[in-house]
Amino acid sequence: MRKRICFWLLAALCAGLLTGCGAPEKAPEPSLVLGFSQLGSESSFRIGNTRDISEQAKAYGVSLMMDDANQKQENQINAIRRFIAYRVDVIAFSPIVEEGWDNVLAEAKQAGIPVILVDRTVQTADPDLYLSQIGADFYREGVMAGEYLLKKADALGKERLRIVEITGTENSTPMKQRHEGFMDTIAGDPRMEVLESVNGDFLRSRGAECMQYLLDRYGGDIDVVFSHNDEMTMGALPVISRAGYRPGQDMVIISIDGGQEAIDILKTGEINCIVECTPMLGSLLMEAALAVKAGQPVDRVIHPAERVFSDEDDLSALPPRGY
Ligand code: AHR
Repeated sequence: MRKRICFWLLAALCAGLLTGCGAPEKAPEPSLVLGFSQLGSESSFRIGNTRDISEQAKAYGVSLMMDDANQKQENQINAIRRFIAYRVDVIAFSPIVEEGWDNVLAEAKQAGIPVILVDRTVQTADPDLYLSQIGADFYREGVMAGEYLLKKADALGKERLRIVEITGTENSTPMKQRHEGFMDTIAGDPRMEVLESVNGDFLRSRGAECMQYLLDRYGGDIDVVFSHNDEMTMGALPVISRAGYRPGQDMVIISIDGGQEAIDILKTGEINCIVECTPMLGSLLMEAALAVKAGQPVDRVIHPAERVFSDEDDLSALPPRGY
């Protein structure tokens, strides 16, 4: 009797070992196929956004077809057409500019494939060409930048502040809305004078070029630099220093995004304020795509929560930014 119990115990143990070690666990079936066209890799925001979307796709069991458009709208349109031909369940993309999408979006609609916009939005004749937009409230970001400047002007006690603006990609949503939000906020204040707005295309190299141009033109007349992203800000800072001015002291520096490198510079005092624009949109995208697939409703616009980091804050306990 004792021998028989031992035999069955041994057999059970072996069976357990075999299933635990020998046969690999079957990978779960992907719940949906998502085609995502990323616009490029121009900034740490963008690189963080691409990484987050890949990681969250894995976490949610979504099969992701990702395409990098290398900063070209034409490449994004081609990628969307490939997703349609492949018959993915949902198409998502971050539109580099707002206009010129009607035809390809009509093709997606015709094929019955829902479209979710990530980060930026589009201008379309037919609002039904996309289902939802998941991204920052860029107008609000511009407002927050302007509000910081109004407070800073009080603190500095200056009668006049001459401002230069380095904007992001022409006709992109963040470029248009950040500009509007900022200008609307400072418009009623007689101390504020905007010298010039120049297009830096969200690139570090262009930020440096724009700053050089602005310094050649206005020199020490510049009191404030409002730059639409960290990348351009970090391109501009060494140019300001080389020209003999102290960024953060001789000129108020306001930036947008809040990547780790820029936050570290903010802590040294060379940047005065950074309005957060979070690239961590992956989980919101996966949840929306899964809801669409399940036939559930999704909000038309989904904004992540964002904040301001400035020289007024104690940032010593700020956790790593992750981008
Ligand atoms: O669309 C968001 C903007 O695009 C970010 O502020 C910028 O860094 C990026 O390239």
